[in-house]
Amino acid sequence: MKGVIVAGGSGTRLRPLTDLVNKHLLPVGGYPMIHYALAKMAEAGIREVLLITGKASAGLFTQYIGSGEPWEIQVTYRIQERPGGIAEAVSLAEGFIRPGDKFVVLLGDNLFEDSLAAAVSEFQEQPTGARVFLKEVPDPRRYGVPVLRDGRIVSIEEKPENPPSTYCVTGIYMYDAGVFGEIRQVTRSARGELEITDVNNRYAAAGLLQYGMLEGWWADAGTPRSLLEAGLRLMKGES
Ligand code: DAU
Repeated sequence: MKGVIVAGGSGTRLRPLTDLVNKHLLPVGGYPMIHYALAKMAEAGIREVLLITGKASAGLFTQYIGSGEPWEIQVTYRIQERPGGIAEAVSLAEGFIRPGDKFVVLLGDNLFEDSLAAAVSEFQEQPTGARVFLKEVPDPRRYGVPVLRDGRIVSIEEKPENPPSTYCVTGIYMYDAGVFGEIRQVTRSARGELEITDVNNRYAAAGLLQYGMLEGWWADAGTPRSLLEAGLRLMKGES
């Protein structure tokens, strides 16, 4: 299976740090943030990865990652001209992902403990559809939140004022190649983005959205505090 790492965006919540450099190159634990997504892909047995980022720091990504050799991954790069949403970034993987393929998407600012190796094998057996990964969080309003009924995700609400559950849909996604057709069906949200939640809701409506639960710690390192907390967790793991 192939992998796609989404590492563009504007990193607004991390300004002024991100005035200088793309969020995914900021130090967290002992590495630039992007290291962890590559390490998670490698741990899951994924050997071909597409990295999607913006223009501003693209040269620094290639300087740090190169061909992907340190992770034993073959890395290909693609540029998202402007931050038009996570689903728009994923759409750039069409061509890299062939019809009939399945793939894993990681948001580069999601840091987590679980290995994805077993989930990747399971998804390989799933005939079609998509899979998301949930984590119970104290503040679901910051995230995509699933509406769960009879052990299924009925729908997902993006950053709801009144969260329908205490779970967050993390930035770990698995898709069949049909996702590119689904992305073409979604329209821009109020904030002008193609939302990954709208894409996932199309799978949910078709009864094709499975989910798994993360057992270990998980963090969206998109704010100064969560960046610091994630760094401390990662360094604990190293000592
Ligand atoms: O972290 C999990 C959450 O990620 C989910 O619960 C939400 O459903 C999902 O929408 C997303 O929410 P965020 O508000 O955290 O998304 P953010 O704009 O911070 O972007 C997440 C990642 O995607 C980040 O690594 C930057 C990258 N990105 C984002 C945009 C908008 C791109 O590469 N291109 C983009 O155009």
